[in-house]
Amino acid sequence: MTAEWLRDAVLYEIYPQSFADSDGDGIGDLRGVIDRLDHVASLGVDAIWFNPCFASPFVDAGYDVSDYLQIAPRYGTNDDLVELVEKAGERGIRVLLDLVVGHTSIEHPWFQAELHAAGPSPEGDRYIWTEELPDRRWVVDLPGTPSWVPSPGPRPGWYLRNFYDEQPALNFGWLEPSEPWMDATDGPGPRRNVAALREILDFWLSRGVAGFRVDMAFSLVKDFEIEGGLAASTAIWRELREWLDEAHPDAVLIPEGPEPRTGERLAFDADFELVIFQAHSSLFDNRGAGQLPFHGHLEPFFDAEGRGSTRVFLDAIARARETDRRRMVLLASADHDFSRMRCGSRGPEQLGAAYTFLFTFGTVPCLYYGDEIGMRYLPGMPDVEGAICNPGYNRAGCRTPMQWDDGPNAGFSTADPSRLYLPVDPSPDRPTVAAQDGVPDSTLTLVRELLALRRETPSLQGTASTRWSRRATPSPGCAARRTWWW
Ligand code: NOJ
Repeated sequence: MTAEWLRDAVLYEIYPQSFADSDGDGIGDLRGVIDRLDHVASLGVDAIWFNPCFASPFVDAGYDVSDYLQIAPRYGTNDDLVELVEKAGERGIRVLLDLVVGHTSIEHPWFQAELHAAGPSPEGDRYIWTEELPDRRWVVDLPGTPSWVPSPGPRPGWYLRNFYDEQPALNFGWLEPSEPWMDATDGPGPRRNVAALREILDFWLSRGVAGFRVDMAFSLVKDFEIEGGLAASTAIWRELREWLDEAHPDAVLIPEGPEPRTGERLAFDADFELVIFQAHSSLFDNRGAGQLPFHGHLEPFFDAEGRGSTRVFLDAIARARETDRRRMVLLASADHDFSRMRCGSRGPEQLGAAYTFLFTFGTVPCLYYGDEIGMRYLPGMPDVEGAICNPGYNRAGCRTPMQWDDGPNAGFSTADPSRLYLPVDPSPDRPTVAAQDGVPDSTLTLVRELLALRRETPSLQGTASTRWSRRATPSPGCAARRTWWW
């Protein structure tokens, strides 16, 4: 079952650290978001996606969870989250959380228990351990890839990490276990983890949350190279989706990235053409700022020089809709892992074309906080909470504090600037909500107007059929549907 509400929705991503700080400690919090809900509502978005806000030592900005059922104290309490969900709901806005399930923090009690055990748990290990360093697979040390980490505690041997060393991979088993350290996907450890996933989903959905963006959703079963390997990860999600269809039918699950096609029923509600994928960068690439190390530098279509092509993007959309023409595709303005829509040579003058496309093409757009006023990606920011993955890849530049007004710290926080999560854009002409509010030609006004137009024009929404054509002039009879000429 696919949640109908998502089909024509517009999402708004909030990086909680940087949105609004209500208690003056320099870090954003849930009360700050509650206080700013009128701004979020004024944009015309339908749902907020929060980056992880659970208890965490914040080695990777909260993508290292130490308690899935507890809001991190620096953000507030579980009750604050419930209040936020209710107050957002009063404004017609749903709340999605970020589910980080490929790994936990090393501080999670599950990991601590196994670290302090002498050997495998009789109930099945939740993590992946080996006493001998395997001479095959995952011994390369690339950031963000699984690799073996020496045990830092009494348990002998090594554990497998998923991203940073402090993010041990949860054990979802192997399709063809061929080594002593591999469990089958239906082994007791993997099944314990699937059961835990269901409990986490149920816990938050029962508190009014509308669904989840799922971090590294296809990294659960790590048989990436063998046929059927990816299908084994998607099978876990399908099992959970079947349970959700009964228990929480309106809940949405959005994966990080496009869902692999396995010939089976799709488990997720949408594909996510994330900033790190070529389809996105072929449209909005930023000419170097924040560039990920692992894909080529594409000429962006939405750029003053206009040398790019839409081919890669259109092919991705066509692939996503091959078997289901109504399949939803999420397309973000930017996100917490990359740069911003306004970056490189793309200044405010060019944002209009990019946003007109983003909000009317027929995807489910996801607006990254601050992009509604054209906040800049700021190069050279300090490495805070794992933001710098390697010297060429600094995510901090897109995580700087929201710029509200011309007060201290741009209205983000009353803290001394030295205590801020990240520095505020120091430019005297930095954009702010207050300066753009109600101003006819501002980026903020444009975003609001585009979203209002989208809302009142069904043929601009996510479910309207789209036809793209290379012809220079429209043919008669095309007026009823959206047609884009390239
Ligand atoms: C993807 C998230 O978007 C990123 O911020 C995080 O560092 C990794 N997954 C690891 O969880």
